[in-house]
Amino acid sequence: MAPPLPRRICCIGAGYVGGPTMAVIADRCPDIAVTVVDLNAERIAAWNDPDLGRLPVYEPGLDAVVGRCRGRNLVFSTAVEDAIAAADMVFLSVNTPTKTRGLGAGQASDLKWVEASARTVAKAASGHTIVVEKSTLPVRTAEAVKAILGSGVAGKTFSVLSNPEFLAEGTAIRDLEDPDRVLIGGDDPDAIDVLAAIYAHWVPQDRILRTNLWSSELSKLTANAFLAQRISSINGIAAFCEVTGADVQEVARAIGADSRIGSKFLKAGPGFGGSCFQKDILNLVYLCRHYGLEEVAAYWEQVVALNTWQQHRIARLVVTRLFGTVTGKRLAILGFAFKADTNDTRESPAIRICRDLLEEGALLQIVDPKVREQQIQRDLGQPAGQGEGSWQLAPSVEQAAQGADALVLVTEWEQFGAIDWSAVVAVMRQPAWLFDARGSADEAAARAAGLSVWRVGQG
Ligand code: NAD
Ligand code: UGA
Repeated sequence: MAPPLPRRICCIGAGYVGGPTMAVIADRCPDIAVTVVDLNAERIAAWNDPDLGRLPVYEPGLDAVVGRCRGRNLVFSTAVEDAIAAADMVFLSVNTPTKTRGLGAGQASDLKWVEASARTVAKAASGHTIVVEKSTLPVRTAEAVKAILGSGVAGKTFSVLSNPEFLAEGTAIRDLEDPDRVLIGGDDPDAIDVLAAIYAHWVPQDRILRTNLWSSELSKLTANAFLAQRISSINGIAAFCEVTGADVQEVARAIGADSRIGSKFLKAGPGFGGSCFQKDILNLVYLCRHYGLEEVAAYWEQVVALNTWQQHRIARLVVTRLFGTVTGKRLAILGFAFKADTNDTRESPAIRICRDLLEEGALLQIVDPKVREQQIQRDLGQPAGQGEGSWQLAPSVEQAAQGADALVLVTEWEQFGAIDWSAVVAVMRQPAWLFDARGSADEAAARAAGLSVWRVGQG
């Protein structure tokens, strides 16, 4: 007999994961009522904005999915407890950033939002509720979630599952609609069947993997650690290429052709950004140390150390090539998001690079198609301004380039691949430079227009 489908599901956390994930579930399962709740009223209001261009998360294709289901079987609300009480299944999709104080500060995950939402579920749930960990969590967190839920009022029962999310920003809708795999960890086979039945609406059975709780929690941290490790590996090799005359793009192509290595995640760049790679590796490092595995901790810690070094290295070499000083010089920063096709700037390499250049006294003219001025202000810790060590937002590459000595390409937005280099060079101060930290610009065209070009990993 097919497992019963939940009639109502609730997701706590309307962020980059909760919003898109639930929108796709609602889209693919018109028979399930989905409510996404958040304490952040401003965020919920943005999810409810009649103008789909103003959703709080920018993801290609998200507006269409939300447009199809919102008001049908997809609701965004701040009524957290009501939505939990009505739900048969509750997803926890709250933030789990690195702790900034106390035990494990700088490495361990801060679980206060997970704990708070589990406590709210314990209080507000009714009957039997399947609680699904969607947030990325330290291995064995389900134990704590179970303990919190177990302390609830008699008559309520819970099953806890781990169902980590593997979507990448910028391709979230594609990743959700056609995932490589869906992972469900748990020790209650009935609950696992219910969650698997939701995904079975659109995901082939052989891509729905079932494991125990701890394997599922740890697989998420491990997947991110392996992906990030590839980026640090290729960035290390990029620096080596630059001093030896090799070209990292050729090396990546050559090694990627080996089917055991594979060609993905071998793009050298300004270092990885995003809310998760660094925090998840640091969490892994913390847990390894906690269990006395010092060598394992030190190994993974180096992935983050190399990433930080790469970001500072880019800023340093800009200064060095511009005759050792950028004080009072205009620099156009192309891109501020941590990757293309997202408005997310969390841990963006642009932040460290810009901060280093501001420290050197540069005047930054930043252009990004999706990131807003207030966000850049928060990230750089200073408002837009004028004079040495200041930044301004520019509406176009041409305007960012006005009077600039260099363009620094930090985010690989598609439009930066189609720049009219002659028009840009014409408004820059000579000698004009392009620092392509992504290796994504049309280098030949830029050189032909008169720019000196530095590209990551090119010897
Ligand atoms: P986010 O910060 O964008 O969203 C989290 C939301 O949870 C916030 O809007 C916050 O207000 C809300 N929240 C926190 N506590 C709450 C509570 N008690 N009640 C109601 N709402 C509450 O975070 P995100 O990027 O969506 O990430 C969520 C989780 O998913 C994290 O654990 C992250 O590691 C993981 N993850 C993220 C990505 C990604 O691409 N961003 C991908 C896979 C996994
Ligand atoms: C990453 C993982 O890819 C997702 O599977 C995971 O779910 C998610 O983290 C998470 O747990 O948050 P995301 O950070 O959104 O997704 O984006 P990625 O495409 O992985 O890129 C991360 C960073 O690495 C970006 O700054 C990107 O520019 C950089 N990158 C990526 C490279 O420098 N080179 C590459 O070859 C690939």
